[in-house]
Amino acid sequence: MTSATHHPNRQNPQPNSLELFDHQWATYRALVGADLMGHRAITDATAAALASHLDQRPAGAGAPQMVDLGCGDLALLAPVLRQLPLGSYRGLDLTAAVLPLARAALGDVGYPCDWQQADLLSWAVESPTNGAIDILHSCFAIHHLDGDQKKTFLRHTRAKMAEGSLFLWADVFREPGESRDHYVNRYAKRIRQQWPLNPERQEQIISHLSQFDHPADRDAIVAAAQANGWHWHWLWQGPHQAEALALLTPA
Ligand SMILES: C[S@@+](CC[C@H](N)C(=O)[O-])C[C@H]1O[C@@H](n2cnc3c(N)ncnc32)[C@H](O)[C@@H]1O
Repeated sequence: MTSATHHPNRQNPQPNSLELFDHQWATYRALVGADLMGHRAITDATAAALASHLDQRPAGAGAPQMVDLGCGDLALLAPVLRQLPLGSYRGLDLTAAVLPLARAALGDVGYPCDWQQADLLSWAVESPTNGAIDILHSCFAIHHLDGDQKKTFLRHTRAKMAEGSLFLWADVFREPGESRDHYVNRYAKRIRQQWPLNPERQEQIISHLSQFDHPADRDAIVAAAQANGWHWHWLWQGPHQAEALALLTPA
């Protein structure tokens, strides 16, 4: 989810308190642990896509530079990252408190890592456009941007990508033509009927997603990506017409 860890104000990214962060993160960990949003399938598909990309990488291309936007605590991705022959890894997240968790989860690896507390859209717009990123990754974070912000994000990130690079984007998406209200209502129904969490946690998640989640319309985001120089391929789509993983490559 989408929203247990979302901060509505990009200018004030710190959680109100460590206690609030702990509570919200515990909720997120509970739903990841119960695999309610397809994290296991997404992690498997991500690992397979990365392995295939690295296999096909031309000899002499150099070790790939990876950036992970909204990295969270790396609870599921760390074992995948530890196997990768990266040149560098940057974990970026709006929530400062997750970065030490991510660093500890990854442990010692044979490539340099850095950890940045930042808003992913600000990073996309403001960090250097150097065409140096080989692997861009983001899982369940970009849906916090609204429609125009997602287009801005796609335009600016495209300019940062190296030749032969890839962008793995896992997130929630709306069905083509579906209104945000319809999406929110059916997701709330799914949480109330199917998620084995206590009602207080269910309502906390529903309240956050109602306020802060802006999943892209599947068809519209493909068109927006293509208009901004990306080729789009769906790698995995979950059974709930919401969670999915896309592979974007420079067109
Ligand atoms: C639902 S968690 C996903 C964490 C991890 N990627 C995963 O799949 O388990 C969303 C993460 O994105 C971060 N996040 C939310 N909005 C963000 C933003 N605008 N910029 C950077 N990170 C953001 C949150 O702090 C949180 O760590």
